[in-house]
Amino acid sequence: MSADEGVMNIVLIGFMGTGKSAVGRLLAAELRFHYLDTDQLIEKAEGRKIAEIFKTDGEPYFRRLETETLQALQDYDNFVISTGGGMVLKEDNIALLKAIGPVVLLKAGPKTIYDRIKSEKHRPLLAVPDPLAEIKKILAYRGPFYDRAADRAVDSSDLTPEAVAKEIITWLRSRSS
Ligand code: S3P
Repeated sequence: MSADEGVMNIVLIGFMGTGKSAVGRLLAAELRFHYLDTDQLIEKAEGRKIAEIFKTDGEPYFRRLETETLQALQDYDNFVISTGGGMVLKEDNIALLKAIGPVVLLKAGPKTIYDRIKSEKHRPLLAVPDPLAEIKKILAYRGPFYDRAADRAVDSSDLTPEAVAKEIITWLRSRSS
């Protein structure tokens, strides 16, 4: 895959713990693209962690930062861009994502997600007494948003990040041939 094959960026969306970062890094290495993560861009610009932003300024403020970040990425080329799990919740964001490049949704079942993230403490939305129930609830609500935003979906539940990246590359090549 390269610029002359018509793909300039790849966008990864999906719930927390679906493998966006791991798969994104592998994709970027394989395609010789740069790798970016919108959460990391926000943390860098704000000089503080996502959890701190949620705590001090609230989720709506964070969501505004997400939209501004997507606006700033519109002229980027040759990037694999991983996005925060709630990026698809705003209609404007979906249009901005699609303008950046093909959008690939990574999926996983609630139990898989829970097992992957349970030892991590940095996700404010899951800092609740029953994270598995919360994952199920948020996933059910977000399903239609993810589906609407995605050009392609890959279920990562039973796949290694390498296998997911391979599937995405096969799909990208089939589009450009
Ligand atoms: C969020 C997911 C997080 C981060 C923030 C909110 C969400 O990103 O943006 O904690 O709403 O699902 P990851 O999906 O990279 O963990």
